[in-house]
Amino acid sequence: MNPALETLVLALKEQRADQRNILFLGAEPHPELPVLTAWQPLKPLADACERSGMILTEKPKGKFSTVLFLPGKTKEETLAGFAMAHGYLAEGGSFITAMANTSGAARFEKELGKATLLSFSVSKHKCRAFGVSNLEAWDAELLAEWQKIAEPHVIAETFFVTQPGVFSAKHIDPGSLLLAGHLPVSLRGNVADLGAGWGFLSHMALNKSPNISRIDLFEADARALECARRNVSGNVNFHWHDVTSGLTETYDHIITNPPFHTAQSKDVDLGKAFLSVAAAALKRNGTLHLVANRQLPYEAHLQELGLRARSIAEDHAYKVIFASK
Ligand SMILES: C[S@@+](CC[C@H](N)C(=O)[O-])C[C@H]1O[C@@H](n2cnc3c(N)ncnc32)[C@H](O)[C@@H]1O
Repeated sequence: MNPALETLVLALKEQRADQRNILFLGAEPHPELPVLTAWQPLKPLADACERSGMILTEKPKGKFSTVLFLPGKTKEETLAGFAMAHGYLAEGGSFITAMANTSGAARFEKELGKATLLSFSVSKHKCRAFGVSNLEAWDAELLAEWQKIAEPHVIAETFFVTQPGVFSAKHIDPGSLLLAGHLPVSLRGNVADLGAGWGFLSHMALNKSPNISRIDLFEADARALECARRNVSGNVNFHWHDVTSGLTETYDHIITNPPFHTAQSKDVDLGKAFLSVAAAALKRNGTLHLVANRQLPYEAHLQELGLRARSIAEDHAYKVIFASK
């Protein structure tokens, strides 16, 4: 289990915070948590929260006596999460956050201390939980600054909208750029974009191939999908979906830059699971167009799945693979 979550739950118990009206931002399931309202933009985790009995919401409403927060990977998400938590705190309520020491727990504790007076700090499992009882006022100027940094923004010299925390938020991913350059102009019929992010590959495919009838974008991160809605237009469908759970339709073509990280760690099996789902969802004679880091053993996996696969382009870091069923 996530050690930051363990430390968060420990702090919740130690602080004797009100457990009747809790909001959990960045929620993950834990057997010792009471029924609570949960916000989680990542679909696999959101599904796990729902299965554990949490009340999932896309946009929390109202005020809560206790707000828990497990931040994502970036500084922007963490600071914006502090501001978001403050917006949901009822008068006199408690705010508790936890993160790994290696994720900058001490630094972020100091940051929160600039906004308000901290009331506790607990160190355990190489993580730190800290927070406040909302008796003290929070610095309004700093809160406004933190709110602003998480807002969607445009990538320089493009019209693509992204937001902090989503994959490749500050630039177009170089692997996806390589794949886009090698997408054929002959894609037609129905196309799926697996792990579509903020929509770069779908946008490029639609621009290159006039005979595409429809693209379905599948993405686990609700925030990235929100950006994709602004970046991709035409006959497109947006699905907040865990690709590893499979697809219900079949496709003429599939495009993907598969993920191979879960949280901070490398997970090649996640990328392979994407390819297995793609192979199952391709129509006969359908084609798969993907990009991957050069060292990833995807060609062999595709052959095992019964596809004919070959690398059609490479640079110093990435390879573009074409496979057919
Ligand atoms: C390498 S990125 C590519 C993003 C986008 N296609 C691009 O070119 O910028 C992989 C994407 O897969 C998404 N992802 C990770 N796990 C997923 C899952 N289980 N189901 C669906 N999408 C997932 C990530 O959020 C990320 O946006």
